[in-house]
Amino acid sequence: MAGNILITNIKSLMQTEDNPRLKVCGKEMASVKTIDDAWLFLENGLISDFGSMDEIRNGNRSFTSTSIKEIDATGSFVFPSFCDSHTHIVYAGSRENEFADKIKGLTYEEIAGRGGGILNSAKLLHETSEDELFRQSSVRINEIIQQGTGAVEIKSGYGLNTEDELKMLKVIRRIKESFPLEVKATFLGAHAVPEEYKHRHESYVDKVINEMIPVVASNELTDYIDVFCDKGFFTVEDAERILMAGLKYGLIPKIHANELDYSGGVQVGVKYNALSVDHLERSGDEEIKILVGSDTMPTLLPGSALFLGLPDPPVRRMIEAGLPVALASDYNPGSSPSGNMKLIMSLGCIRLKMLPEEVINAVTINSAYAMGISESHGSIARGKVANVFITKQMPSFTFFPYAFGSDLIKTVILNGRIIN
Ligand code: NIG
Ligand code: FE
Repeated sequence: MAGNILITNIKSLMQTEDNPRLKVCGKEMASVKTIDDAWLFLENGLISDFGSMDEIRNGNRSFTSTSIKEIDATGSFVFPSFCDSHTHIVYAGSRENEFADKIKGLTYEEIAGRGGGILNSAKLLHETSEDELFRQSSVRINEIIQQGTGAVEIKSGYGLNTEDELKMLKVIRRIKESFPLEVKATFLGAHAVPEEYKHRHESYVDKVINEMIPVVASNELTDYIDVFCDKGFFTVEDAERILMAGLKYGLIPKIHANELDYSGGVQVGVKYNALSVDHLERSGDEEIKILVGSDTMPTLLPGSALFLGLPDPPVRRMIEAGLPVALASDYNPGSSPSGNMKLIMSLGCIRLKMLPEEVINAVTINSAYAMGISESHGSIARGKVANVFITKQMPSFTFFPYAFGSDLIKTVILNGRIIN
């Protein structure tokens, strides 16, 4: 059982909620509730209570539980752990050769067209055993835990045949069982069309529907279903067929949409009540209008936009239209080989012109919503899971995304246990 931890003298306790919300929309994104000079009490793996140090100093608050470990956080900030709602962190090998090709001028689509890209990762994954895939992925999981992530969504999609998709999903399940962070799995059989189906695209979609979805769903290996609905990958019609097949098994959609073109992915995502539509670099008034009033979380992935040199999505217009926005890392070997959510916050500020408060909401409560866990994660609220991190000493919370290359995380606590 987790011990009890009392963190005292916190310079500022970030993202506190007395009445927890599921997500934060529009103008509200520019505010984050904080308590200066605060304490936070973690009990049995959950957030028990929090308040101002004056209460302790005045003798109005004392702690009677046995074996309380006290951490003095003078000069430091405490944040709820990041929720990274979009990753492909389970993969074999790496693709730095394509990085060099990209530097020389090839586009993502050109590399994919030559059998590189996702198909390259699928080949490597096919040749890698389940144990080795778990070992390689564990290194990256440990890395993101150190970088402050307390919940991660992980997609399949480098298998592209039933056996290898199952191998990936089993590795995701092992990660869920072996690490202290919260894990959600997403089945992404429709990530790319394998070489042997190149001229029989429809048959691959049939295989996803008739062979993969039933076995993945009946083994309870996935929480969500995703389709790469974009130019050169899967069409809106493919997506509709796949999502309908998934819904029969109760699989809620999350869509890769509008990264490479105005793909119709946002529309199909909203039509099938997707939890999130992700990427959205190619979005205009039409896409924004459709998202307004829906329950779908627009999720932006500025790491892959930076890496691939894509245009930036119209975030300011989205927020002005009253939409919520989440940010995630897209950690994958081809378009975003990093899961550093602090860097993602900085990119949100620098590239997308989001305010520090907006990016905090986007990487905590809104990204928790985008992976279906905002009732238990994504803010400092009584009864939520005790996933938090303590920063090094900093002058202000704006310093955190501002100092974009500095490691400012000192202590990581997951489920009420100190990890480092
Ligand atoms: O989200 N867009 C599709 N999938 C990934 C890239 C995967 C890869 O290139 O390996 C993405 O960017
Ligand atoms: Fe992705």
